Amino acid sequence: MPSSLVIANWKMHGDRAFAEAFFSALDLTGVAADVAICPPFPYLSLVAGRVEQAGFGQLALGAQSVCAEEGGAFTGEVSADMLVDCGVRYVIVGHSERRSLYGETSELVARKFAAVKKAGLVPVLCVGETLEEREAGRTLEVISGQLQAVADCLGVEAWRGAVVAYEPVWAIGTGKTAAPEQAQEVHRFIRERLGEAGGDTPLLYGGSVKSGNAEALFTQQDIDGALVGGASLDAKEFVSICRAAG
Ligand code: PGA
Repeated sequence: MPSSLVIANWKMHGDRAFAEAFFSALDLTGVAADVAICPPFPYLSLVAGRVEQAGFGQLALGAQSVCAEEGGAFTGEVSADMLVDCGVRYVIVGHSERRSLYGETSELVARKFAAVKKAGLVPVLCVGETLEEREAGRTLEVISGQLQAVADCLGVEAWRGAVVAYEPVWAIGTGKTAAPEQAQEVHRFIRERLGEAGGDTPLLYGGSVKSGNAEALFTQQDIDGALVGGASLDAKEFVSICRAAG
């Protein structure tokens, strides 16, 4: 059975003082779900220290992106081995903001996924359709293609030790959440597509998750947790979401 997991994606928000204040307010006592915090790159080491000091066994550090290359002349990029060196465990790949704003194709995302696995880290693959694609009835086709690019690169074994996050693009940062049944339908489809190797792969929902809607989402059979953007910037709100996950 997949374990419950809630990931905070701070995106390009916060600074040193914010990170300190967040950890002062973070109390995961009694939370059974695994939890990860993905700060911007410059704060990875700071947050790694705070994660360790916090002493919550289920708390880990994550990164928001990674370079597909192992090392070399790639100005501005960060390799998977560097993330290992900083104490990272989870790495988000294929977030819709990376796909749409930075032109990351499913093929590049698959190479990043492979680089993360090779370094021994846990890739968090984001998939999801735009509003236009949903309205055209193409949701499952789009998600299928995004998953297939990874399977083409690494085979079906790719899903073992990975995490998949379904994030409908129209729900990210918009305050519009997919209805729990609507999300479950896609999660069920993803679970089937992952096959046997994906039996224990946590499937996260992302897109305007907050304390008020988390529980209804988590009661769905194939929703194992959440990838949280905006609501992860408030420690108390974020902890409420983690509590709803288990
Ligand atoms: P949101 O972002 O919670 O602010 O909608 C989710 C995400 O982009 O991962």
